[in-house]
Amino acid sequence: AFNVAGIKLANRSISIVICDFEGETLSEYWSALDRTTYAPEDLLAMLMAELEQATARADMSLNDISAFGLGLAGMVDVVEGVVRWSPSITERNFKLRDVLSQRLGKPVFIDNDANLVAKAEQYIGMGKNVSDFLVVTIENGVGMGIVLNNELYRGTRGCGAEFGHTKVHLDGALCRCGQRGCLEAYVADYALLREMAVGTQLTGNRDTTADMAALIEAARAGDKTANSVLDRAARMFAIGLANLVNIFDPKLIILSGERMQLDFLFADEVLESIRDIVVQVDAAPPEIVVHKWGDLMWATGAAVYAIEGLGELTLQE
Ligand code: BGC
Ligand code: NA
Ligand code: ZN
Repeated sequence: AFNVAGIKLANRSISIVICDFEGETLSEYWSALDRTTYAPEDLLAMLMAELEQATARADMSLNDISAFGLGLAGMVDVVEGVVRWSPSITERNFKLRDVLSQRLGKPVFIDNDANLVAKAEQYIGMGKNVSDFLVVTIENGVGMGIVLNNELYRGTRGCGAEFGHTKVHLDGALCRCGQRGCLEAYVADYALLREMAVGTQLTGNRDTTADMAALIEAARAGDKTANSVLDRAARMFAIGLANLVNIFDPKLIILSGERMQLDFLFADEVLESIRDIVVQVDAAPPEIVVHKWGDLMWATGAAVYAIEGLGELTLQE
């Protein structure tokens, strides 16, 4: 039997699913990580250790896995297997695919994390049978996957679909990509914490999970500052989405990621604001839906990607 592992590397955690070749989930694994950003060698060591754990949990060993799919934040050249830039890796242009594949002795397929959410949506989610749709994710960063004519569109260098780094401000707030005025520098988790002045860092090892939970708790309890920070972010996010509607005129936009799970604190506000600001035409507006998927679905997208990739490799042989 063939099995694949799909991995989502998140900000402070990792999710791994093991699937059979039909994409049926055999086992799910989640583990907290002690840091956000890794030197290449440390990243490899961490991935190997977590994969050992995840397979052991499934009563398997690494040898039982035929291929690995990995999604991570940043700009990933899927042809070269190179991570051009990632908030999770200290070095640029890291040949992650080949180096990891060498360690594992099996094929590895890497892609941008949000692209793999789009893949999951396409195969088992709301994007099934939809030829053109966008997925936008919001949590510690803002990600995007573009499906056009049933294919993921990644741009010529594999660096496209970076909605989070579209500019909304001249000389604006500092983003984790190093530039200023990016959308995510106003709406992502780290941006909200910066607004709340609890202090954050764009990359590095500070764990902001508890700060973020506290912000949401405060907003739920009616705290004015917390609510206005979330509210402003929702409206900023809606501006970005309105731009997407005006550029792509897509059939469907799927909003995903942890933040979209906050109904009245965030999601409702986004959906409402966007209706007001898109250019009004006499035709049905794009459908904008919230999909409350957790990290395991991102990892499942990575598993689907590995199944596809392995299929293509076999065809080539
Ligand atoms: C990164 C994207 C990623 C998103 C969500 C952004 O900061 O640039 O590549 O998809 O965060 O993780
Ligand atoms: Na993307
Ligand atoms: Zn940026």
